[in-house]
Amino acid sequence: MQLFMDTANVEEIRRMYEMGFVSGVTTNPSLVAREKQDYTDILRQITAIVEGPISAEVLKEDAPGMVEEARKLAAIHPNIVIKIPLTAEGLKAIHQLKTENIATNATLIFSAAQALLAARAGARFVSPFLGRVDDMSNESLSVLADIVDVFALHDLNCQIIAASIRSPWQVVEAARIGADIATVPTKILEQMIHHPLTDIGLERFRKDWEEAQKSL
Ligand code: E4P
Repeated sequence: MQLFMDTANVEEIRRMYEMGFVSGVTTNPSLVAREKQDYTDILRQITAIVEGPISAEVLKEDAPGMVEEARKLAAIHPNIVIKIPLTAEGLKAIHQLKTENIATNATLIFSAAQALLAARAGARFVSPFLGRVDDMSNESLSVLADIVDVFALHDLNCQIIAASIRSPWQVVEAARIGADIATVPTKILEQMIHHPLTDIGLERFRKDWEEAQKSL
């Protein structure tokens, strides 16, 4: 399973990308709003750092408007993938963009039925939102497992991005179930990196080494 960063913060992306595990980035309007910078500038900076798919989301809600916005975003860089919300208008836009060879990521997906529609319409990625399902006291991993099973059974040419991730455990579960990608907020990546026993182990190695040096 690949790991994408779910952020629009360029400094966070630069810092994490150096560690070698980041294969792409997803942004959304809420994430971009936090940065207080022009969206196009942010996307240009991200594409200069990351070699891999960078999702940029449309804001229009009608198909012609989404397609027009998508064409402009796609022109920024060949790695830009257009995030389209899973609505009837969104499906029309995904279908049209497929004919123009513009890659799409169907977002705000909460069921296997929605994922199947997006894949059939021509989306390159589907993004089931796990955390938001769990927030409603429902169980998100079974939704993800249904999508993985259906896509494998019917050999659908569409990658599954586990999104709306809330914990390192959810990342591991998404990998176990068979998601192609998990898009992970920086805070959760930090939690994945750090373990208290690693810090304790490192401290003990250092102390043992220093003690041994004194008696040489
Ligand atoms: C996915 O691509 C979205 O950007 C994201 O995962 C949404 O997550 P949230 O529910 O934490 O806002």
